[in-house]
Amino acid sequence: MALLFASTADDPELWRRELGRRLPGLEIRVHPEIGDPADIDLALVWLPPPGLLASLPNLKAILSLGAGVDAMLDDPTLPADLPLCRLVDPSLTATMSEYVLLHVLKYHRMQDLFARDQRERRWQLRLPAPASSTRVGILGLGVLGTDAARVLAGHGFSLRGWSRSQKQLDGVACFAGPAQLPAFLAQTDILVCLLPLTAETTGILDRDLFARLPKGARLVHVGRGAQLVEEDLLDALDRGQLGGATVDVFVQEPLPPEHPFWAHPAIDITPHAASYSDPAVGADVIAENIRRFFDGRPLQHVVDRARGY
Ligand SMILES: NC(=O)c1ccc[n+]([C@@H]2O[C@H](COP(=O)([O-])OP(=O)(O)OC[C@H]3O[C@@H](n4cnc5c(N)ncnc54)[C@H](OP(=O)(O)O)[C@@H]3O)[C@@H](O)[C@H]2O)c1
Repeated sequence: MALLFASTADDPELWRRELGRRLPGLEIRVHPEIGDPADIDLALVWLPPPGLLASLPNLKAILSLGAGVDAMLDDPTLPADLPLCRLVDPSLTATMSEYVLLHVLKYHRMQDLFARDQRERRWQLRLPAPASSTRVGILGLGVLGTDAARVLAGHGFSLRGWSRSQKQLDGVACFAGPAQLPAFLAQTDILVCLLPLTAETTGILDRDLFARLPKGARLVHVGRGAQLVEEDLLDALDRGQLGGATVDVFVQEPLPPEHPFWAHPAIDITPHAASYSDPAVGADVIAENIRRFFDGRPLQHVVDRARGY
């Protein structure tokens, strides 16, 4: 009975220490030192090498170290019948809301324009309207989108959100489904994308969608790279349809040095760094699922594979 840890982004020793505190008897093997693959019951992974999970004959459940599991679902060798749980972790949620707030405030307070003025040595007073007149629209009202809305509401922004099923959230005008997307976009000055990557959301941030936003709207994209049609973003910025974009996720990561986003004056880039899980917090959630697994209780945050998130 052992847990396999395999991640391209997380420190195995930190996770081993935090999980060991909560589950002292748990044997953790860190990829590639797997030992006998038949010993592995559980896998705790982020972007595992394709085929790794399929090579574990006694694997019974997969726990993701990330909130989005699109890359794993994309692996044709992913064992089809095993529960796959995504990470829902207060530290990941809090850091995402912090990132969204930072960049929404940047646009609301026109810090992007002040930065341009500074580069051009131009002294220009710009006074923002009250936050209540800046309309922020959040694509995706799940764990992350709902918390981002809560944090933004605390700063007085005017909020709307869009999801697949209809929601009711205090202080948020809620829109649902493709039919209500145009109305949602028409009232959005700053668009935040917090959607999972699925067949329906691939390429959703495209020319048509940008055209439905008020002219000069800003984008904060923290979902997944393949949701954004990158050349459509460049075109919308160059035509002034969009006034600026903050992009954390890309079709190709790491973003290649020759990519036009790097040098674009209206694009701010971060290297898929919007949010992260603190093992000291995330280990509580993971340990709870491991206990549930060993006790035969239902696991938490199981991905609906048919839905894709
Ligand atoms: N950049 C980063 O560092 C980073 C970090 C973590 C996560 N992320 C991204 O953020 C995503 C969201 O995470 P989460 O934990 O908030 O996920 P979640 O709780 O599963 O919420 C997803 C939301 O998106 C909505 N949605 C899904 N497909 C839709 C569609 N076709 N049309 C309209 N709405 C749709 C869902 O609607 P329903 O509520 O109706 O189901 C739900 O409100 C992740 O999947 C990942 O891609 C990025």
